[in-house]
Amino acid sequence: AHFLISAPDIRHLDKHLPVESGIEVAFAGRSNAGKSSALNRLTRQKSLARTSKTPGRTQLINVFEVEEGKRLIDLPGYGFAKVPLEMKLKWQKSLGEYLQERESLKGLVVLMDVRHPFKDLDQQLIFWAIDANIPVLALLTKADKLKQGARKATLLKMREEAKNFEGDVQVELFSSLKGLGVDVLERKIAQWYGE
Ligand code: GTP
Ligand code: MG
Repeated sequence: AHFLISAPDIRHLDKHLPVESGIEVAFAGRSNAGKSSALNRLTRQKSLARTSKTPGRTQLINVFEVEEGKRLIDLPGYGFAKVPLEMKLKWQKSLGEYLQERESLKGLVVLMDVRHPFKDLDQQLIFWAIDANIPVLALLTKADKLKQGARKATLLKMREEAKNFEGDVQVELFSSLKGLGVDVLERKIAQWYGE
């Protein structure tokens, strides 16, 4: 995979990357959830997407091309406390529009820290995706932070909770650090790419 472009918002994305030109899978989640780390792990490239201990690091929409017409999109994290409210609302609105309108988008990976899953904004995002008929893979990230038993219990509980969405929402454990769940992610993306 290689870096293709950055866009400050959805409008710019549409302008520079027409929707007709391929298939996209987007990575979304709260700031610091582990989106960029997951992309790096998936592509086996340590520094494809910038990762950071400072939440809110990824401010731009970063587009990576896996092969011609197949793209991965690293979306800016949401829910970061220090961002002004006006910017938060603007971002939420455009994220909703993006899911509704971007026809090349075939799948959404929602990343949530296994210790704080399905917060309000995560749920909102998943509802928008279901509304737009976009399948969701919900990854419970940093699973290495929990012991085996707690990890399994959280997974089962969150799979129950995900049934409330009444849509295509698959929940899995994930750890960029340990490589847990990477195979599931790979298979899902291949399916969305129509491979
Ligand atoms: P923003 O771009 O700020 O929205 O963050 P992000 O969602 O891209 O998160 P990022 O991948 O930058 O990771 C945030 C922090 O969590 C970094 O310090 C990572 O090293 C750490 N992290 C990410 N994945 C894992 C994981 O699987 N296990 C552990 N223990 N830490 C992780
Ligand atoms: Mg990031």
